[in-house]
Amino acid sequence: MSNILVSTENEITTITINRPDKLNALNKQTISELSQAIDQAEDDEDTRVIILTGAGEKAFVAGADIKEFADFTPEQGKELAAKGQHDLFDKVEACSKPVIAAVNGFALGGGLELAMAAHFRVASGDARMGLPEVSLGVIPGYGGTQRLPQLVGKGRAMEMIMTAGMINAGRAHEIGLVNHVVTQEELLPTCIQLAQKIIKNSPMALAAAIDAINAGFAVGVDGYRAEIDCFGACFGTTDFQEGTSAFLEKRKPQF
Ligand code: COA
Repeated sequence: MSNILVSTENEITTITINRPDKLNALNKQTISELSQAIDQAEDDEDTRVIILTGAGEKAFVAGADIKEFADFTPEQGKELAAKGQHDLFDKVEACSKPVIAAVNGFALGGGLELAMAAHFRVASGDARMGLPEVSLGVIPGYGGTQRLPQLVGKGRAMEMIMTAGMINAGRAHEIGLVNHVVTQEELLPTCIQLAQKIIKNSPMALAAAIDAINAGFAVGVDGYRAEIDCFGACFGTTDFQEGTSAFLEKRKPQF
């Protein structure tokens, strides 16, 4: 893997997009490596939470690599979006292990789309976020037109996409695009602290919660029905036995 770095410590896998000289722009190779890294982390028994971040202090990801698609035809554009959504963005969102985006600078275009595909986001105070695609004559293609309205509401998403502007971390926090804003130095430690809280909980229940929450945003799926199914399935898990036994025995559960 030449464009990303992966490290696992204390059951937390950090995946760092590592093209700082290109502000971590997502070229084809990086998307493919990220896709593989998510698969591996999901399969890895030593991983309970995944943190996504960018190398350097300037950018999380400054977007899809503009050089790569500048001469694409409509068919190639369609294929780029379809493959990207399938191989990476939808995979991150559907990952059965919690994925936190540590937004450490510019998160633009595909970068903000990647952060939005994560289950939640923490930003550094100097982060800047936006979907500038219409300034390039194109629209967001990695789920941005869908996930931004889900997170911040239709009107705010319309404004951000139409103006192609950037918002700062404070505004992103105000509109619910990021959950916390901290300094660059505190960014990874804060994400690790959140991950440690998550790790205390049942991995099987966390996976079920991710499924049920995502179901509510899936077209043609009844989220309440999905919740009932996911809730019921929890009763058949060893985690449920452990969690309820631990409570009744007045001890901490061992998940
Ligand atoms: N695709 C390809 N290369 C990119 C890139 C992208 N999305 N974003 C940044 N880069 C490259 C630049 O081309 C430059 O490479 P070079 O040194 O070989 O010329 C390098 O990263 C540094 O970027 P630069 O523009 O010099 O930094 P800056 O501090 O002046 O500006 C940004 C930072 C983020 C404002 C600016 O890079 C930018 O607007 N990037 C594109 C954002 C965008 O439109 N993203 C959506 C794509 S769909």
